[in-house]
Amino acid sequence: VQDGYGVKGMVDLGLSKVPAPYVQPPKERIDKQNSRMCPLQPIDLSKLNGPEHDRVAEEIARAASTLGFFQVVNHGMPIDLLEKLKDTAHTFFGQSPDKKAVYRKGVSPSPLVKYGTSFVPEKEKALEWKDYISMTYTDDVEALQQWPQECKEVLLEYLKTSVMMVRKLLVVLMENLRVKPDNSKIDVLIGFKMVNMNFYPTCPNPELTVGVGRHSDMGALTVLLQDGIGGLYVKVEDDIENVGKKGEWMEIPPIDGAIVINVGDALQIISNGAYKSAEHRVRTTSTKSRVSIPVFTMPKPSEKIGPLPELVERDGAQYRELFFRDYMNNFFSNAHEGKNSLHFAQV
Ligand code: SIN
Ligand code: FE2
Repeated sequence: VQDGYGVKGMVDLGLSKVPAPYVQPPKERIDKQNSRMCPLQPIDLSKLNGPEHDRVAEEIARAASTLGFFQVVNHGMPIDLLEKLKDTAHTFFGQSPDKKAVYRKGVSPSPLVKYGTSFVPEKEKALEWKDYISMTYTDDVEALQQWPQECKEVLLEYLKTSVMMVRKLLVVLMENLRVKPDNSKIDVLIGFKMVNMNFYPTCPNPELTVGVGRHSDMGALTVLLQDGIGGLYVKVEDDIENVGKKGEWMEIPPIDGAIVINVGDALQIISNGAYKSAEHRVRTTSTKSRVSIPVFTMPKPSEKIGPLPELVERDGAQYRELFFRDYMNNFFSNAHEGKNSLHFAQV
């Protein structure tokens, strides 16, 4: 695990069954047969600019305050960019192990770039069946200097278009709370940005493993491009009419050209609980490797965040104020464990 080969390296060496450290306890395994596809239709973002604005805004707000997950189409992201991104991820992970290993934690030539496998291997009861590379965004110049040569341009374009979309969505979400969507408020929510490429190799025993364990994302909104393989599951926190039952896990179906959006913990905190970060996880498959490419937007580590004063005035504070650095440190010092990360922000 530590040598840079990752799960893919292990699979490439030939593997007839999953090694013991990757076998999940029964309660964490994913029951593919007994789960439904999420019935929510993708939301047409282009309609925010026309006479149907209010209806579409309502749809976005409803999804963000119930399931915490939705998909968007006509999002302004060129379809050929999405195709290029998936190809780029396959190309990157298809390289020889030494090409990827240079970006491992501790040896990476850049503090902005980190290649790894599983999430927090030292803390996990069972390891995740996943390799990833993570690129932090500071500015264009540094991204183009420090991100891996073979993918920096396409990832930078994706990150920038994603951030534009996130800004639009956050304006809608704030207006829905009758909070003035000032740029300064939005800047706080998305001061820190990161793009990952995830690679889930084929797995000889998909029923015993997970690609990613149950977790919620820690930031504001996550923009996620998934390929056509499927396997992303979301937990319904409370009954949602015409969507799902409390406690049910639903698959977010791959839809060509669509992008998945999900609410993270920071937005749940800042919205004083109005918007819900959602617990989600990923299944592995035996036939084809899967890629996904998320852009994470979140407050800067140095930022002090808490529920917006307008909302506290109305309802009282559901979460305490905290430095986002402390939230991040807590998040990264524990294994994935559902929404437990949010306990850190409890009043
Ligand atoms: C994640 O939430 O960590 C990954 C989601 C995905 O691969 O679809
Ligand atoms: Fe996630």
